[in-house]
Amino acid sequence: MAKAMFGFLTVFFIHWTCADIVFDDASGYGRRFDGIGSLSGGGATSKLLINYPEKQRSEILDFLFKPNFGASLQILKVEIGGDIQSTDGTEASHMHYSWEENYERGYEWLLMKEAKKRNPSIKLYGLPWGFPGWVGEGSGSPYHNVLKTADYVVRWINGAKKIHNLTIDYVGIWNETPYNISYIKTLRKVLDGRGFQHTQIIASDNKWKIAEDMSNDKELKDIVYSIGVHYPGTQSPKQAQQLGKTLWSSEDYCQKNNETGGACWARILNRNYVNGHMTSTIAWDLIASYYTSLPGWGMGLMTAMEPWNGHYVVSPPIWTSAHTTQFTEIGWTYLKHGHGVGTLPQGGTYVGLTNPKRDQLTIVMETMTFEHSKCVLDAKTPFKVNPQNVTLSLGGKWSGVQEMNIWFTQLGFDEKPNIFFEKRSPLKFIKGKAEVFLDVNQIITLTTLDTGNKGAYPAPPPHIEFPLPYSDSFDSYNLYQEPYYLSQQIGSFEILAEGKNGFVRQMVTQMTIPWCKQADGIQKAYNVFGDIKWTDISVEFDFRIPSKNGSSGVFVAARTTKGGCSSAETSGIFFHALPHKFVLSTDIQRQHVVKSGDLSYGPGSWHNIALSVKGSLAKLIFDQTTVYFGSIPTWPTAGWAALGTDSYGLADFDNLKINSLM
Ligand SMILES: *[C@@H]1O[C@H](CO)[C@@H](O)[C@H](O)[C@H]1NC(C)=O
Ligand SMILES: *[C@@H]1O[C@H](CO)[C@@H](O)[C@H](O)[C@H]1NC(C)=O
Ligand SMILES: *[C@@H]1O[C@H](CO)[C@@H](O)[C@H](O)[C@H]1NC(C)=O
Ligand SMILES: *[C@@H]1O[C@H](CO)[C@@H](O)[C@H](O)[C@H]1NC(C)=O
Ligand SMILES: *[C@@H]1O[C@H](CO)[C@@H](O)[C@H](O)[C@H]1NC(C)=O
Repeated sequence: MAKAMFGFLTVFFIHWTCADIVFDDASGYGRRFDGIGSLSGGGATSKLLINYPEKQRSEILDFLFKPNFGASLQILKVEIGGDIQSTDGTEASHMHYSWEENYERGYEWLLMKEAKKRNPSIKLYGLPWGFPGWVGEGSGSPYHNVLKTADYVVRWINGAKKIHNLTIDYVGIWNETPYNISYIKTLRKVLDGRGFQHTQIIASDNKWKIAEDMSNDKELKDIVYSIGVHYPGTQSPKQAQQLGKTLWSSEDYCQKNNETGGACWARILNRNYVNGHMTSTIAWDLIASYYTSLPGWGMGLMTAMEPWNGHYVVSPPIWTSAHTTQFTEIGWTYLKHGHGVGTLPQGGTYVGLTNPKRDQLTIVMETMTFEHSKCVLDAKTPFKVNPQNVTLSLGGKWSGVQEMNIWFTQLGFDEKPNIFFEKRSPLKFIKGKAEVFLDVNQIITLTTLDTGNKGAYPAPPPHIEFPLPYSDSFDSYNLYQEPYYLSQQIGSFEILAEGKNGFVRQMVTQMTIPWCKQADGIQKAYNVFGDIKWTDISVEFDFRIPSKNGSSGVFVAARTTKGGCSSAETSGIFFHALPHKFVLSTDIQRQHVVKSGDLSYGPGSWHNIALSVKGSLAKLIFDQTTVYFGSIPTWPTAGWAALGTDSYGLADFDNLKINSLM
């Protein structure tokens, strides 16, 4: 009797509540939430943020890291610089050479410290994209001597601790390249041996293949803390789900930071768990602080690329992030699929998360449409989302909840206005139920937490282009810093000094273990600056080739068109100054020669080189003597200014001056 009645009730209940979304703990909990993060580097993506005016830089860092303010990121992943081109530039290695170590180079240290200052519980994650050549003992592989490579990486983790008091929580293998199991095991041993038992290994920052190896190799399975996959398209294979390990999307997003990027990010943040059981998602990249026209330009969570006046833009993905990060912490737990995690009846998804004490509940719902929420590297299977009314039903530990705070975003597609992260009046639950209307392209967070804040600062200075004239004597830097506006694409440039005279030195002397072989493989250092739209300019500087380990020459260029992995294919007007001749060419490799002629200089002393381009004319001046004044091809018509070396090898640069001839 009782049984029959129960049966009846169950049928009735299921029928009546068919549009109900239930949030309860009836069958336990889902996986632990491991945090939402972003990636600085991979590469050189934070380049222009560093010399922002202090006030604006601090504001930007607040939008990224400060809890209850903006994106409030929970993980900061950074590149372990390797002197190699890693997408938008190169980041310096902590060991250009086997005999030295330096933890003052680059800008990732500063970013990590600023992030920690704002949020002491943010997790830090380091990953190499490539390595200096010596690490592979000339073999070109970091797995040639796995102990040497592990030593190199663990030194970086040790430097973080000893010099910067930064604890590195996670370390990866080699970005988007094959892993080597004996290397992973060696890395674990070296970490343990040097007191870094707490630093966990994420592998392999590529696709899912390692799940297979982990299921066949218990030692490997035990030492890999989390499988970190790039651009999983929100899906994970059953084999990975059944391993009993956490699954992360350790690089994802990759979209312009307009509304489309905001929508892409909202969709994957939910769906990586709903579809793929992934408990952490990390965006490439943290901040669009690299020159326009470099690869993937504008794909940071926000934009800051005008250090000369401090202009920045707080972009939609900042508020998309806030919907999850401001109402969760690492260590919270997802609810179970079907009990607070799933797909909405008319499309879109929802995830419920609860704190370790289980007395707080956060629900994030997204209704992104297929058309408007594409990420660049996504699976492109279409799906439908319609406006809908849904009944939310709270059960178990949360059955007594009477109201939840609402945070609302409407992305402004199809003539709707943008509304970002707005607090609405709380949603009342009557007998554990409430109805909500969800239109398309919305994000709605419901939470029992009373925290949450849409941070704001007065408008930053307005947008302006790179101002000319520009000059830099490199005397006002700290040693080992990167020259601010010089966006290094091949090679590694840093400030050194003799007495009070600061200058820039190109440091790479040997072929690297590259990530973009097509760029680094030409073994010529290349550094772009200014504005891709520059046409008629003059660029001048002093240079010196050291007598030991010097490069085979230097160049100055205007109208250069390409960076990133395509650096070797750049066009431009190149004035190459070699010890016995000059070459005027339209390429970095001196293959498309316009003119060449005599020149003579020796190593060890400073010389001056100047290039002016105006319309179809160029003037080349070496040590105050004009070596060419004549016509040049009219293509390319515009591009960055650039400098560099004719081969790997040391070269010094000083007193850079750029003028407009427009
Ligand atoms: C991994 O590295 C070890 C040590 O250098 C080497 O013996 C082995 O062949 C490598 N494995 C693969 C699959 O490359
Ligand atoms: C290092 O950081 C920890 C927090 O992670 C802090 O407690 C400690 O005071 C710091 N030490 C120094 C020397 O700054
Ligand atoms: C955002 O930028 C991408 C890439 O330029 C473009 O395809 C997309 O249409 C833009 N979205 C909006 C809403 O402007
Ligand atoms: C949602 O409910 C409201 C009021 O109950 C109704 O006016 C509206 O048509 C419903 N919308 C949809 C898409 O069902
Ligand atoms: C410079 O060259 C010398 C001799 O070939 C070599 O021993 C040294 O390692 C080189 N230094 C650098 C920085 O490459």
